[in-house]
Amino acid sequence: MGTPEVQRKDMKMINGYPMVYAFALNWERMDEFQGRPDDIVISTFPKSGTTWISEIVDMVLNGGDTEKCKRDVITTKIPMLELYEPGQNISGIEVLKTTPSPRVIKTHLPTDLLPKSLWEKKCKMIYMARNAKDVTVSYYHFDLMNNLHPVPCAWEEYVLKFLDGNVPYGSWFNHVKTWWEKKKDHPLLFLYYEDLKQNPKEEIKKVASFLGKTLDEKTLEKIIHHTSFEMMKDNPMVNYTHLPSSMMDHSKSPFMRKGTIGDWKNYFTVAQNEIFDAVYEKEMSGTTLKFCTEIQSN
Ligand code: A3P
Repeated sequence: MGTPEVQRKDMKMINGYPMVYAFALNWERMDEFQGRPDDIVISTFPKSGTTWISEIVDMVLNGGDTEKCKRDVITTKIPMLELYEPGQNISGIEVLKTTPSPRVIKTHLPTDLLPKSLWEKKCKMIYMARNAKDVTVSYYHFDLMNNLHPVPCAWEEYVLKFLDGNVPYGSWFNHVKTWWEKKKDHPLLFLYYEDLKQNPKEEIKKVASFLGKTLDEKTLEKIIHHTSFEMMKDNPMVNYTHLPSSMMDHSKSPFMRKGTIGDWKNYFTVAQNEIFDAVYEKEMSGTTLKFCTEIQSN
């Protein structure tokens, strides 16, 4: 893995959305993708806790059996639909063709880029959302370490790029709002990173119930422990250290970075925060979506 021709390239537009250059190649493959009725889709805007909810779903489906969950690395257990690198055997679409049912599929695609078949087959979908400010900080750091992304820029510039939707997958605002709307007419469980962090038991119960599973207290505790940030950070099956450093360079910034709520306060200047809040208010007016940006004390 690690094709130099696709590394640190500018994004390519797909139907109005900026996309990771490598993923945007040969995009026709997405139209051909066939969903299966028992597929489970995990969708997020990048850096919203995708890996975390993915491991939780795998644990729930395997009744909290940690050994079963260590059967393979997260990228193989839960393939990423749009992943693609020319000349490499990692195309999400190709891997999914041979993945036995029920498949769990990871994606960051906005609703209108998701293959139609997944909507038509009424596949269950879990969307996890995270507050925009922490996503900005996490995405900035991800740019530093992910060589499939464009050349990283300074933090000062990054905040504006993020607000403009000039990052892979486009606008965070568009992403969360359009996925939220889908809840109305599709089997979709909408979760928040901040809720999962502050009350993992309740949120994991929601996941289990959505997937038609009941978990006893002991199993729930096991899942909470196995999927805690501290455990996942040191688990080589989920912390992305299995990828070659030519693709993800953890020395620039680790994939499992901080895993907290409110880290944005360590990065945003007062001026950046004001600009962000103004755009946020405008973009989010008229939606019933509510995010929390700091730890709630009771
Ligand atoms: P930070 O960069 O803020 O630390 P994704 O999987 O969508 O790429 O999201 C990555 C973000 O989720 C990173 O955020 C990462 O640390 C955080 N994360 C991963 N596992 C987590 C866990 N078990 N608990 C809390 N946060 C987690």
